[in-house]
Amino acid sequence: MRKNILCLGIESSCDETSVAVIKNGRQVLSNVISSQIEIHKKFGGVVPEIASRNHIENINIVIKQALDEANVTLEDIDIIGVTYGPGLVGALLVGLSAAKGLAYALNKPLVGVHHIEGHIAANYIEHKRLKPPFVSLVISGGHTHLIHVKDYTNFEILGKTRDDAVGEAFDKVARVIGLGYPGGPKIDKLAKDGKITYNFPRSHFDNLDFSFSGVKTAVLNTVNNSKEEIIKEDICISFEQAVSDVLVQNSLKALKQTGLNKLVLAGGVAANSYIRKELENALSKNGYELYYPSNILCTDNAAMIASAAHYTYKAGFTSDIDINAIANLKIGEKDGYIRNK
Ligand code: KG4
Ligand code: ZN
Repeated sequence: MRKNILCLGIESSCDETSVAVIKNGRQVLSNVISSQIEIHKKFGGVVPEIASRNHIENINIVIKQALDEANVTLEDIDIIGVTYGPGLVGALLVGLSAAKGLAYALNKPLVGVHHIEGHIAANYIEHKRLKPPFVSLVISGGHTHLIHVKDYTNFEILGKTRDDAVGEAFDKVARVIGLGYPGGPKIDKLAKDGKITYNFPRSHFDNLDFSFSGVKTAVLNTVNNSKEEIIKEDICISFEQAVSDVLVQNSLKALKQTGLNKLVLAGGVAANSYIRKELENALSKNGYELYYPSNILCTDNAAMIASAAHYTYKAGFTSDIDINAIANLKIGEKDGYIRNK
């Protein structure tokens, strides 16, 4: 009988301290997420130093809780997966140090995970039969990428943003209309009562790149120059429409270019109901399939990191104990810290 593989995953790249236990890459035994949103809210965004300090205070408590909820002990764990980039370096180091300590003390394999590879892997947990190859549209606070996922550990970037990430644009628009941080979920909610009244600009390139600074600036100018009180709901839905149009168009192009028929959404903005609906409509009309994780697996969590670690390990990769945090880690690049067995 095949032995089950239990992976303990750790994520601390931004403002969530999260630890999960995953069985065989797809089954969540626990996924504890300790969010610092309330702490950072009053500053209007994540303060790196405060994030690191809170990760230090939380990490051991969250590890214990994840083991307890999964009803396992450290001895039952087979591999330790951890985000080592990209992200805030001080924040990453907290999770990474904890993971290294555990791997060393328990003499278990350590697997460094790219945060975005984790976001993509959230879909393996949600959709038990989903397998590469597919095209992934990664839309988060720090990334906007179209990626050809050729295999569990083989990625080719087809296009990416030339300036702001989609989530960054959501958060800035939310701030200027007074919705606070993080703005994405609030825009999502307000837009449901809005009417499309503004025609914000869309950027198009010959290749599969994106740009969102134009639409962001257009919204900021509209709000700042308006003589009357703006209707926030209308701004929200008009902004979402402009963003969705570009995401839909580039996604269709990427599917055509690769000859694949599955689009897999990943990252915090994949929770957006308007974007999901627009993609769903456009893809089904063209005979393509759309996949996305449930909301809790869209935003940062350790279950997705453990899933990615599982498949990285299965492909024969582990990390050395001297692995370091890399703030601007490139996707798909197996740097000096990842070793093929
Ligand atoms: O993936 P994530 O948790 O962190 C990064 O890796 O960046 O993404 C966070 C981003 C934030 O910009 C947040 O505003 C956005 O995801 N977000 C949303 C929604 N939920 C989270 N944006 C639009 N609609 C949502 N429902
Ligand atoms: Zn993320």
